Amino acid sequence: MAEIHRASTTAPVNIAVIKYWGKRDPKLNLPTNSSLSVTLSQSDLRTHTTASCSPAYPSSDTLLLNGSSQDVTGARTQACFRELRALRKSIEDADSSAPKLSSYPLKIVSENNFPTAAGLASSAAGFAALVRAIANLYELPASPTELSRIARQGSGSACRSLFGGYVGWEQGAAADGSDSVAFQVAPASHWPDMRALILVASAAKKDVSSTSGMQTTVATSSLFASRAAETVPRRMKEMQNAVQDKDFEAFGKVTMMDSNSFHATCLDTYPPIFYLNDTSRAAIKVVEAINTAAGKIIAAYTFDAGPNAVIYYLEENEKKVAGLFKAALGEKDGWAGQRGDAVEANGDAL
Ligand code: PMV
Repeated sequence: MAEIHRASTTAPVNIAVIKYWGKRDPKLNLPTNSSLSVTLSQSDLRTHTTASCSPAYPSSDTLLLNGSSQDVTGARTQACFRELRALRKSIEDADSSAPKLSSYPLKIVSENNFPTAAGLASSAAGFAALVRAIANLYELPASPTELSRIARQGSGSACRSLFGGYVGWEQGAAADGSDSVAFQVAPASHWPDMRALILVASAAKKDVSSTSGMQTTVATSSLFASRAAETVPRRMKEMQNAVQDKDFEAFGKVTMMDSNSFHATCLDTYPPIFYLNDTSRAAIKVVEAINTAAGKIIAAYTFDAGPNAVIYYLEENEKKVAGLFKAALGEKDGWAGQRGDAVEANGDAL
């Protein structure tokens, strides 16, 4: 029987509280601004991926996602394969007894346990898991930082899913992207009582992909330039301080303002991009009502490139936030899965 080499891994979803929106280099996925996210618990939203390779496999690489065959010829996936193969090749060149895995076709099998491409950061978990699984298969000694540089080329936000806890992505300055990598702001254990309520307003695939949306925003929005040059750099500092100080009010305020700013640049794009819908706006109103009733910010909404809401809150406010949300929205039309799920925002470092 022909040899088959195999390795599996899981990677969690991350949800940004300072959004990545805009590429200064679309080929290398180099962003126009730094960003920051919270990695969710692997037991909740994650991609499970098995990578295998064998000289007996048909000659081309394959990728199966949730049972359906995906195109691997795109530049992003190819960039990840190429970088990982090059690292493996250097091991093989240095040690002639190492099996020549880099020359074998790859077979990747991935499963998401959440809706794909519905603004739930599926590509983030997907590329992080793909890169990590192949790195394990090739027995690469690569650090999460190095893997984040590779995963970034698959999908920008994927670089942040290589770390658990509170994670930044430094936009970097180098033209080759060598310094555009993720870093851990704080481990999950630093602020373990953070929770995320995911409200699935629509599980449908988003109509404007993040890649095409970003490029149109960069090209046409006049709000965008000040967001990238001034607003985000200031908020990156405020957010890192909020995490260090475990200051939920500051964390929540910056999270909501940054989501608003990102969706404002979408609306300011020509033609405009509408990711939020009436259901999303109802969620914003509920968060405002919760915070008004509490007399301070105890809940914070954020929306990616889709209508689904992610509500951050601390465990001590579970009843006031998740409980009230479920009561308020349980009866409302438009919430697929009716209630949404509360998940722990405390993925461990991979
Ligand atoms: O990684 P991409 O290309 O799917 O872009 C993700 C963009 C947002 O989710 C909207 C923001 C972010 O920082 O995750």
